[in-house]
Amino acid sequence: MKGAILVMGFLALGLDAAAQAAAPTVSLGAAVYTHWCSHCHAPGPGHPGTESLQLKYAGKLPAVLVERTDLTPAVVSTFVRQGVLLMAPFRKTEITDTELAALSIYVAGNYQKAR
Ligand code: HEC
Repeated sequence: MKGAILVMGFLALGLDAAAQAAAPTVSLGAAVYTHWCSHCHAPGPGHPGTESLQLKYAGKLPAVLVERTDLTPAVVSTFVRQGVLLMAPFRKTEITDTELAALSIYVAGNYQKAR
């Protein structure tokens, strides 16, 4: 009995640690997005990413990246490392793998929520 209580205590601690670990990832992802992506992908005119995606999807999908619900973290990571049209690929010296993981989860946030 004592053992079971101890195990449950450790489980609770483990979950708590997981919840705490998730918080910095979200804020890191948001910070990387603001630094490297938002000047092209923010809403409104004058943002080449948003304008280009408006043309590409002609309103069938949101032109603003963070409003999309179809982007998975893997798709976001691939575009960031490979680039597309006038969006240059981002190197690991600019966005590290850890930052890319957080960024991809952040940008794909609506995909996760929609499922
Ligand atoms: C210099 C401007 C610019 C910057 C900076 C930029 N992008 Fe882009 N992005 C674009 C353009 C232009 C496209 C191409 C849209 C198209 O295919 O018409 C694009 C496309 C994308 C796509 C593909 C969307 C689709 O459905 O085809 C993703 C994902 C993306 N960008 C993510 C990012 C992320 C994440 C960052 C930050 C690391 C970023 N972009 C930074 C301009 C930019």
